[in-house]
Amino acid sequence: MLDRFGRIHTNLRISVTDVCNFRCIYCMPEDMTFMPDAALMTFDEILHLARIFVALGANKVRITGGEPLVRPGVPALIRQLTQLEGLKDISLTTNGIGLIKQAQALYDAGLRRINVSLDTLNEEKFEQMTRRKVLSRVLEGLKAAHKCGFNPIKINAVAMRGFTDDEIVDLATFARQNDYQLRFIEFMPLDADDVWGRNMYIPGKEIIGKINAVYPLTPVTQNGEAKSDTAQRYRFSDSENEVGVISSVSEPFCENCNRVRLTADGKLRTCLFSLTETDLLTPLREGVADDGIAELILNAVEQKEAGHKINAADFIKPERNMSRIGG
Ligand code: GTP
Ligand code: 5AD
Ligand code: SF4
Repeated sequence: MLDRFGRIHTNLRISVTDVCNFRCIYCMPEDMTFMPDAALMTFDEILHLARIFVALGANKVRITGGEPLVRPGVPALIRQLTQLEGLKDISLTTNGIGLIKQAQALYDAGLRRINVSLDTLNEEKFEQMTRRKVLSRVLEGLKAAHKCGFNPIKINAVAMRGFTDDEIVDLATFARQNDYQLRFIEFMPLDADDVWGRNMYIPGKEIIGKINAVYPLTPVTQNGEAKSDTAQRYRFSDSENEVGVISSVSEPFCENCNRVRLTADGKLRTCLFSLTETDLLTPLREGVADDGIAELILNAVEQKEAGHKINAADFIKPERNMSRIGG
Protein backbone atom coordinates (compact mmCIF):
# COMPACT_ATOMS: atom_id res chain seq x y z
CA MET A 1 0.00 0.00 0.00
CA LEU A 2 2.23 2.69 -1.41
CA ASP A 3 1.38 6.38 -1.60
CA ARG A 4 2.61 9.28 -3.75
CA PHE A 5 5.23 10.16 -1.17
CA GLY A 6 6.83 6.73 -1.06
CA ARG A 7 5.29 5.73 2.26
CA ILE A 8 4.41 2.06 2.63
CA HIS A 9 1.40 1.30 4.82
CA THR A 10 1.63 -1.80 6.98
CA ASN A 11 -0.30 -0.70 10.06
CA LEU A 12 -4.09 -1.02 10.11
CA ARG A 13 -6.20 0.42 12.93
CA ILE A 14 -9.70 -1.00 13.13
CA SER A 15 -12.38 0.69 15.20
CA VAL A 16 -14.98 -1.82 16.38
CA THR A 17 -17.40 0.69 17.91
CA ASP A 18 -17.83 4.43 18.38
CA VAL A 19 -19.49 3.85 21.76
CA CYS A 20 -17.57 4.64 24.91
CA ASN A 21 -18.31 4.54 28.62
CA PHE A 22 -16.17 7.64 29.26
CA ARG A 23 -16.66 11.15 27.93
CA CYS A 24 -13.11 12.57 27.83
CA ILE A 25 -13.24 16.29 27.20
CA TYR A 26 -10.53 16.09 24.51
CA CYS A 27 -12.51 13.53 22.55
CA MET A 28 -16.26 13.47 22.98
CA PRO A 29 -19.25 15.56 24.09
CA GLU A 30 -21.36 14.40 27.04
CA ASP A 31 -24.41 13.82 24.86
CA MET A 32 -23.15 11.81 21.96
CA THR A 33 -25.25 10.19 19.27
CA PHE A 34 -23.84 6.80 18.36
CA MET A 35 -23.94 4.91 15.08
CA PRO A 36 -26.90 2.54 14.67
CA ASP A 37 -25.91 -1.14 15.05
CA ALA A 38 -26.74 -1.87 11.42
CA ALA A 39 -24.09 0.63 10.33
CA LEU A 40 -21.33 -1.19 12.21
CA MET A 41 -19.13 -3.77 10.56
CA THR A 42 -19.95 -7.24 11.85
CA PHE A 43 -16.97 -9.29 13.06
CA ASP A 44 -17.18 -11.34 9.86
CA GLU A 45 -16.99 -8.16 7.81
CA ILE A 46 -14.06 -6.94 9.88
CA LEU A 47 -12.22 -10.21 9.31
CA HIS A 48 -13.03 -10.14 5.62
CA LEU A 49 -11.64 -6.62 5.21
CA ALA A 50 -8.65 -7.40 7.45
CA ARG A 51 -7.82 -10.35 5.21
CA ILE A 52 -7.79 -8.05 2.18
CA PHE A 53 -5.57 -5.50 3.97
CA VAL A 54 -3.15 -8.25 5.02
CA ALA A 55 -2.99 -9.50 1.43
CA LEU A 56 -2.04 -5.92 0.48
CA GLY A 57 0.80 -5.84 3.00
CA ALA A 58 -0.65 -4.89 6.38
CA ASN A 59 1.21 -6.78 9.09
CA LYS A 60 -0.01 -4.98 12.21
CA VAL A 61 -3.57 -4.51 13.41
CA ARG A 62 -4.70 -2.39 16.33
CA ILE A 63 -8.25 -2.63 17.65
CA THR A 64 -9.70 0.68 18.78
CA GLY A 65 -13.05 2.28 19.64
CA GLY A 66 -14.68 4.46 21.04
CA GLU A 67 -13.94 1.99 23.77
CA PRO A 68 -13.51 -1.36 22.02
CA LEU A 69 -14.27 -3.46 25.09
CA VAL A 70 -17.87 -2.20 25.31
CA ARG A 71 -18.59 -4.29 22.22
CA PRO A 72 -19.29 -7.88 23.23
CA GLY A 73 -17.05 -10.58 21.80
CA VAL A 74 -13.80 -8.69 21.22
CA PRO A 75 -11.68 -11.61 22.55
CA ALA A 76 -13.26 -13.89 19.93
CA LEU A 77 -12.45 -11.35 17.22
CA ILE A 78 -8.85 -11.17 18.43
CA ARG A 79 -8.57 -14.94 18.36
CA GLN A 80 -9.70 -14.99 14.75
CA LEU A 81 -7.32 -12.19 13.82
CA THR A 82 -4.38 -14.11 15.31
CA GLN A 83 -5.12 -16.83 12.77
CA LEU A 84 -4.58 -14.50 9.81
CA GLU A 85 -1.34 -15.50 8.20
CA GLY A 86 0.88 -12.49 7.62
CA LEU A 87 -0.17 -10.57 10.72
CA LYS A 88 2.82 -10.09 13.00
CA ASP A 89 1.28 -7.91 15.65
CA ILE A 90 -2.16 -7.43 17.16
CA SER A 91 -2.83 -4.83 19.81
CA LEU A 92 -5.67 -2.99 21.50
CA THR A 93 -6.17 0.57 22.73
CA THR A 94 -8.58 0.81 25.67
CA ASN A 95 -9.63 3.14 28.46
CA GLY A 96 -8.86 0.27 30.84
CA ILE A 97 -12.17 -0.17 32.62
CA GLY A 98 -13.07 -3.36 30.76
CA LEU A 99 -9.79 -5.02 31.68
CA ILE A 100 -11.01 -5.97 35.15
CA LYS A 101 -13.41 -8.43 33.53
CA GLN A 102 -11.80 -9.09 30.16
CA ALA A 103 -8.01 -9.02 30.55
CA GLN A 104 -7.71 -12.78 30.98
CA ALA A 105 -10.02 -13.60 28.05
CA LEU A 106 -8.06 -11.22 25.84
CA TYR A 107 -4.77 -12.78 26.88
CA ASP A 108 -6.14 -16.27 26.33
CA ALA A 109 -7.27 -15.19 22.87
CA GLY A 110 -3.65 -14.42 22.01
CA LEU A 111 -3.43 -10.68 22.64
CA ARG A 112 -0.14 -9.62 24.25
CA ARG A 113 0.02 -5.88 23.80
CA ILE A 114 -2.37 -3.25 25.13
CA ASN A 115 -2.29 0.54 25.38
CA VAL A 116 -4.37 2.04 28.16
CA SER A 117 -5.47 5.68 28.39
CA LEU A 118 -4.72 7.29 31.75
CA ASP A 119 -4.19 11.04 31.86
CA THR A 120 -3.94 11.71 35.56
CA LEU A 121 -3.62 9.97 38.92
CA ASN A 122 -5.60 12.67 40.65
CA GLU A 123 -9.19 11.59 41.27
CA GLU A 124 -10.74 15.02 40.84
CA LYS A 125 -8.84 15.74 37.64
CA PHE A 126 -9.66 12.29 36.34
CA GLU A 127 -13.32 13.06 36.81
CA GLN A 128 -12.94 16.43 35.08
CA MET A 129 -11.07 14.87 32.15
CA THR A 130 -13.27 11.82 31.61
CA ARG A 131 -16.53 13.07 33.17
CA ARG A 132 -16.60 9.75 35.04
CA LYS A 133 -15.59 8.92 38.59
CA VAL A 134 -13.78 5.67 37.94
CA LEU A 135 -10.03 6.20 38.38
CA SER A 136 -9.69 3.32 40.85
CA ARG A 137 -11.29 0.92 38.39
CA VAL A 138 -8.88 1.90 35.62
CA LEU A 139 -5.99 1.28 38.03
CA GLU A 140 -7.55 -2.08 38.90
CA GLY A 141 -7.83 -2.88 35.19
CA LEU A 142 -4.15 -2.08 34.68
CA LYS A 143 -3.22 -4.37 37.55
CA ALA A 144 -5.39 -7.17 36.19
CA ALA A 145 -3.67 -6.86 32.80
CA HIS A 146 -0.23 -6.85 34.39
CA LYS A 147 -1.09 -9.98 36.34
CA CYS A 148 -2.15 -11.77 33.16
CA GLY A 149 1.27 -11.11 31.62
CA PHE A 150 0.57 -8.44 28.99
CA ASN A 151 3.87 -6.98 27.87
CA PRO A 152 4.34 -4.20 27.12
CA ILE A 153 1.51 -2.33 28.77
CA LYS A 154 1.65 1.23 27.49
CA ILE A 155 -0.09 4.14 29.16
CA ASN A 156 -1.37 6.94 26.93
CA ALA A 157 -1.66 10.26 28.72
CA VAL A 158 -3.05 13.24 26.84
CA ALA A 159 -1.29 16.27 28.31
CA MET A 160 -3.40 19.42 28.58
CA ARG A 161 -1.97 22.80 29.50
CA GLY A 162 -3.39 24.22 32.69
CA PHE A 163 -4.79 20.86 33.59
CA THR A 164 -2.25 18.10 33.83
CA ASP A 165 1.03 20.08 33.82
CA ASP A 166 1.79 19.04 37.38
CA GLU A 167 0.92 15.38 36.79
CA ILE A 168 3.82 14.64 34.48
CA VAL A 169 6.43 13.53 36.99
CA ASP A 170 3.83 11.72 39.13
CA LEU A 171 2.72 9.66 36.14
CA ALA A 172 6.37 8.91 35.30
CA THR A 173 6.97 7.71 38.87
CA PHE A 174 3.85 5.57 38.75
CA ALA A 175 4.80 4.01 35.39
CA ARG A 176 8.38 3.27 36.50
CA GLN A 177 7.21 1.64 39.69
CA ASN A 178 4.65 -0.56 37.97
CA ASP A 179 6.56 -1.43 34.83
CA TYR A 180 4.25 0.40 32.42
CA GLN A 181 5.58 2.27 29.37
CA LEU A 182 4.25 5.78 29.59
CA ARG A 183 3.66 8.03 26.57
CA PHE A 184 2.44 11.60 26.77
CA ILE A 185 0.32 12.73 23.84
CA GLU A 186 -0.01 16.30 22.64
CA PHE A 187 -3.68 17.25 22.61
CA MET A 188 -4.83 17.44 18.97
CA PRO A 189 -7.83 19.29 17.48
CA LEU A 190 -10.03 16.19 17.28
CA ASP A 191 -12.29 16.96 20.21
CA ALA A 192 -16.01 17.41 19.73
CA ASP A 193 -16.65 20.57 21.71
CA ASP A 194 -14.02 22.82 20.12
CA VAL A 195 -12.06 23.08 23.34
CA TRP A 196 -8.74 22.69 21.51
CA GLY A 197 -6.58 25.76 21.24
CA ARG A 198 -2.94 26.32 20.37
CA ASN A 199 -2.27 27.11 24.02
CA MET A 200 -3.86 23.85 25.20
CA TYR A 201 -1.23 21.24 24.36
CA ILE A 202 2.04 20.70 26.19
CA PRO A 203 4.97 20.22 23.79
CA GLY A 204 6.69 16.85 24.07
CA LYS A 205 10.09 18.52 24.55
CA GLU A 206 8.82 20.34 27.63
CA ILE A 207 7.48 17.08 29.04
CA ILE A 208 10.76 15.24 28.49
CA GLY A 209 12.61 18.16 30.10
CA LYS A 210 10.45 17.90 33.21
CA ILE A 211 10.94 14.15 33.54
CA ASN A 212 14.64 14.29 32.73
CA ALA A 213 15.16 16.77 35.59
CA VAL A 214 14.00 14.11 38.03
CA TYR A 215 14.80 10.85 36.24
CA PRO A 216 17.68 11.20 33.75
CA LEU A 217 16.68 9.93 30.30
CA THR A 218 18.59 8.64 27.28
CA PRO A 219 17.00 8.84 23.81
CA VAL A 220 16.30 5.49 22.13
CA THR A 221 17.63 5.23 18.57
CA GLN A 222 14.63 4.45 16.38
CA ASN A 223 15.65 2.80 13.12
CA GLY A 224 13.84 0.49 10.73
CA GLU A 225 10.23 -0.11 11.68
CA ALA A 226 10.59 2.00 14.82
CA LYS A 227 10.94 5.06 12.55
CA SER A 228 7.17 4.92 12.11
CA ASP A 229 6.49 4.87 15.85
CA THR A 230 4.11 7.57 16.96
CA ALA A 231 6.29 8.14 20.02
CA GLN A 232 9.78 9.51 20.42
CA ARG A 233 11.15 7.14 23.04
CA TYR A 234 13.54 7.60 25.94
CA ARG A 235 15.01 5.09 28.38
CA PHE A 236 15.33 5.79 32.08
CA SER A 237 19.07 5.74 32.79
CA ASP A 238 18.61 3.43 35.76
CA SER A 239 16.22 0.88 34.24
CA GLU A 240 15.07 -0.79 31.04
CA ASN A 241 11.75 1.02 31.29
CA GLU A 242 10.86 3.63 28.68
CA VAL A 243 8.88 6.83 28.47
CA GLY A 244 7.83 8.56 25.26
CA VAL A 245 6.15 11.59 23.77
CA ILE A 246 3.74 11.65 20.87
CA SER A 247 4.41 15.16 19.58
CA SER A 248 1.88 15.27 16.76
CA VAL A 249 1.45 19.04 16.93
CA SER A 250 4.91 20.41 17.75
CA GLU A 251 6.90 17.85 15.75
CA PRO A 252 4.62 16.13 13.23
CA PHE A 253 5.77 12.67 12.17
CA CYS A 254 3.56 12.37 9.08
CA GLU A 255 6.47 11.76 6.71
CA ASN A 256 7.03 8.38 8.36
CA CYS A 257 3.36 7.49 8.74
CA ASN A 258 2.53 3.87 7.93
CA ARG A 259 -1.04 3.88 9.32
CA VAL A 260 -4.45 3.50 7.71
CA ARG A 261 -7.73 3.42 9.59
CA LEU A 262 -11.00 1.60 9.27
CA THR A 263 -13.86 3.28 11.12
CA ALA A 264 -16.50 1.20 12.88
CA ASP A 265 -18.87 1.89 9.98
CA GLY A 266 -16.36 0.56 7.48
CA LYS A 267 -14.87 3.74 6.04
CA LEU A 268 -11.20 3.84 5.15
CA ARG A 269 -9.38 6.92 6.44
CA THR A 270 -5.83 7.44 5.27
CA CYS A 271 -5.13 10.05 7.95
CA LEU A 272 -6.58 11.03 11.32
CA PHE A 273 -7.24 14.40 9.70
CA SER A 274 -8.60 13.18 6.34
CA LEU A 275 -11.43 15.29 4.94
CA THR A 276 -12.58 12.49 2.66
CA GLU A 277 -12.98 8.79 3.29
CA THR A 278 -13.56 5.68 1.21
CA ASP A 279 -16.55 3.50 1.97
CA LEU A 280 -15.48 -0.15 1.97
CA LEU A 281 -18.44 -1.64 3.82
CA THR A 282 -21.13 -0.73 1.28
CA PRO A 283 -19.29 -2.34 -1.67
CA LEU A 284 -18.49 -5.35 0.52
CA ARG A 285 -22.19 -5.72 1.36
CA GLU A 286 -23.10 -5.27 -2.29
CA GLY A 287 -20.94 -8.25 -3.15
CA VAL A 288 -17.99 -6.50 -4.79
CA ALA A 289 -15.19 -9.07 -5.10
CA ASP A 290 -12.00 -8.84 -3.04
CA ASP A 291 -10.02 -7.53 -6.02
CA GLY A 292 -12.46 -4.65 -6.35
CA ILE A 293 -12.19 -3.78 -2.66
CA ALA A 294 -8.41 -4.05 -2.87
CA GLU A 295 -8.42 -1.60 -5.75
CA LEU A 296 -10.50 0.89 -3.74
CA ILE A 297 -7.96 0.60 -0.91
CA LEU A 298 -4.92 1.00 -3.15
CA ASN A 299 -6.41 4.04 -4.89
CA ALA A 300 -7.27 5.70 -1.58
CA VAL A 301 -3.81 5.06 -0.14
CA GLU A 302 -2.17 6.37 -3.28
CA GLN A 303 -4.06 9.64 -2.81
CA LYS A 304 -3.19 9.90 0.90
CA GLU A 305 -2.56 13.43 2.10
CA ALA A 306 1.05 14.48 2.84
CA GLY A 307 0.22 15.04 6.46
CA HIS A 308 -1.95 16.99 8.82
CA LYS A 309 -2.21 20.76 8.61
CA ILE A 310 -2.73 21.56 12.27
CA ASN A 311 0.00 24.20 12.06
CA ALA A 312 -1.14 25.70 8.74
CA ALA A 313 -3.44 28.64 8.14
CA ASP A 314 -5.75 26.51 5.99
CA PHE A 315 -6.28 23.78 8.61
CA ILE A 316 -9.76 22.29 8.48
CA LYS A 317 -10.94 20.13 11.34
CA PRO A 318 -12.40 16.83 10.17
CA GLU A 319 -16.09 16.23 10.79
CA ARG A 320 -15.38 13.12 12.84
CA ASN A 321 -14.17 13.58 16.38
CA MET A 322 -11.66 11.13 17.84
CA SER A 323 -14.14 8.58 19.20
CA ARG A 324 -15.67 8.18 15.74
CA ILE A 325 -12.26 7.72 14.12
CA GLY A 326 -10.69 5.40 16.67
CA GLY A 327 -7.61 7.27 17.86
P1 GTP B 1 2.07 1.39 19.37
O1 GTP B 1 1.93 0.43 18.22
O2 GTP B 1 2.04 0.69 20.68
O3 GTP B 1 3.21 2.36 19.24
O4 GTP B 1 0.73 2.23 19.38
P2 GTP B 1 0.27 3.61 18.75
O5 GTP B 1 0.94 4.73 19.45
O6 GTP B 1 0.40 3.58 17.28
O7 GTP B 1 -1.28 3.52 19.10
P3 GTP B 1 -2.20 4.21 20.19
O8 GTP B 1 -3.59 3.81 19.88
O9 GTP B 1 -1.70 3.92 21.56
O10 GTP B 1 -2.01 5.71 19.86
C1 GTP B 1 -1.62 6.65 20.80
C2 GTP B 1 -1.95 8.03 20.31
O11 GTP B 1 -1.08 8.40 19.27
C3 GTP B 1 -3.32 8.17 19.70
O12 GTP B 1 -4.28 8.35 20.67
C4 GTP B 1 -3.17 9.42 18.89
O13 GTP B 1 -3.30 10.53 19.74
C5 GTP B 1 -1.74 9.29 18.43
N1 GTP B 1 -1.68 8.73 17.08
C6 GTP B 1 -1.83 7.43 16.71
N2 GTP B 1 -1.70 7.31 15.37
C7 GTP B 1 -1.48 8.55 14.91
C8 GTP B 1 -1.28 9.08 13.63
O14 GTP B 1 -1.28 8.39 12.62
N3 GTP B 1 -1.07 10.43 13.55
C9 GTP B 1 -1.05 11.23 14.62
N4 GTP B 1 -0.83 12.52 14.42
N5 GTP B 1 -1.26 10.77 15.85
C10 GTP B 1 -1.47 9.46 16.00
N1 5AD C 1 -5.75 14.45 20.99
C1 5AD C 1 -4.82 13.47 21.24
N2 5AD C 1 -5.13 12.23 21.63
C2 5AD C 1 -6.43 11.96 21.81
N3 5AD C 1 -7.04 10.84 22.21
C3 5AD C 1 -8.38 11.07 22.20
N4 5AD C 1 -8.64 12.33 21.83
C4 5AD C 1 -7.43 12.91 21.59
C5 5AD C 1 -7.04 14.20 21.15
N5 5AD C 1 -7.95 15.16 20.89
C6 5AD C 1 -6.37 9.59 22.54
C7 5AD C 1 -6.73 9.00 23.88
C8 5AD C 1 -6.52 7.53 23.65
C9 5AD C 1 -6.67 7.34 22.19
C10 5AD C 1 -7.80 6.46 21.82
O1 5AD C 1 -6.83 8.61 21.64
O2 5AD C 1 -5.94 9.36 24.91
O3 5AD C 1 -5.26 7.09 24.08
FE1 SF4 D 1 -13.66 7.24 25.11
FE2 SF4 D 1 -11.23 7.11 24.33
FE3 SF4 D 1 -12.70 9.22 23.75
FE4 SF4 D 1 -11.94 8.80 26.21
S1 SF4 D 1 -10.59 9.19 24.53
S2 SF4 D 1 -14.00 9.38 25.50
S3 SF4 D 1 -11.88 6.64 26.33
S4 SF4 D 1 -13.04 7.17 23.03
